[in-house]
Amino acid sequence: MSNPSLLILAGDGIGPEVMTEVKRVIDWFGAKRDLAFDVEEDLVGGAAYDKHGTPLHDDTMAKALQVDAVLLGAVGGPKYDALDFSVKPERGLLRLRKEMDLFSNLRPAQCFDALADFSSLKKDIVAGLDIMIVRELTSGVYFGEPRGIFEEGNERVGINTQRYTESEIDRVARSAFELARRRGNKVCSMEKANVMESGILWREVVQKVHDTDYPDVELTHMYADNGAMQLVRAPKQFDVIVTDNLFGDILSDCAAMLTGSLGMLPSASLGAPNADGRPKALYEPVHGSAPDIAGQGKANPIACILSFAMALRYSFDQGDEAARLEAAVEKVLADGVRTADLLGEEGVTPVSTTGMGDAILAALDASL
Ligand code: IPM
Ligand code: MG
Repeated sequence: MSNPSLLILAGDGIGPEVMTEVKRVIDWFGAKRDLAFDVEEDLVGGAAYDKHGTPLHDDTMAKALQVDAVLLGAVGGPKYDALDFSVKPERGLLRLRKEMDLFSNLRPAQCFDALADFSSLKKDIVAGLDIMIVRELTSGVYFGEPRGIFEEGNERVGINTQRYTESEIDRVARSAFELARRRGNKVCSMEKANVMESGILWREVVQKVHDTDYPDVELTHMYADNGAMQLVRAPKQFDVIVTDNLFGDILSDCAAMLTGSLGMLPSASLGAPNADGRPKALYEPVHGSAPDIAGQGKANPIACILSFAMALRYSFDQGDEAARLEAAVEKVLADGVRTADLLGEEGVTPVSTTGMGDAILAALDASL
């Protein structure tokens, strides 16, 4: 049997340096856990634009559709700000999401005990926090037509369209209910049914999927603005939150910051299962390309490493090995090993990006 395949798209900014540490972790699993992957690397975002004049080459897109999972670092940077919208680095990522049909974006926000003081909220509000945002990723206002900047009378008008079909809502709702069953068994669905027809339909369909197939899961509905408020007021009331593409983008940044650092949070973007039962999948850290610290060895590789842990769990059915990797990260943090984003306490050990990789590999060795 051949090894499972991975396509690594490190991208821009801190993407390549955090991905270097992930590659060491991947090699560790090959050498020590008999879990070898066939790894191929390619370009995305500004890096792809520099070489090919497009943020995602067709050959790269084709490869992404063939492999068992894609690992992505980050895209974008000030160097590309002036580019035409159609070739901006972000378009490469959006094309991957759309053409791989990765409709369910899992964004966990978990507060590690060792880092509870980093949250901008009081420690008791975030300690032990473990929530999962399920963001619809292939539709809504990100992709709806009509869109564009048009002439209207003597001025221009910018138009984007929020659009959801019943089947798009149905499938992401199902993924949230399935996930909830394996966690705290609660789903809160967020929309703006008070002002948007798409929100009314969203609420109806989520309720119907629940009543028909998941009556055992506790379901509540919330307006997304109230949801944002509740996330900072009492985030532990939530287990799984399911929401649309744009609200999910905003609410997940908000949830991420509850945990203290964006440098800690992984994500998984999943599509429908292939014939072999594996979903189409792309894993990426929630943080961006952080151009201000790129190339200085300051970046925290944990979010990207934990994204690989999600790949082990959701693409390769290696939940135990994912837990091993997560425990290694937790151990390193408990030992006070800190990259630059997490400094400030007394008695911690500051390390570079590579130093954090070293510490995690040592903790993995110690787990054997
Ligand atoms: C995210 C990012 C992206 C988005 C950008 C980079 C296109 O903010 O993954 O949350 O808006 O979806
Ligand atoms: Mg975002």
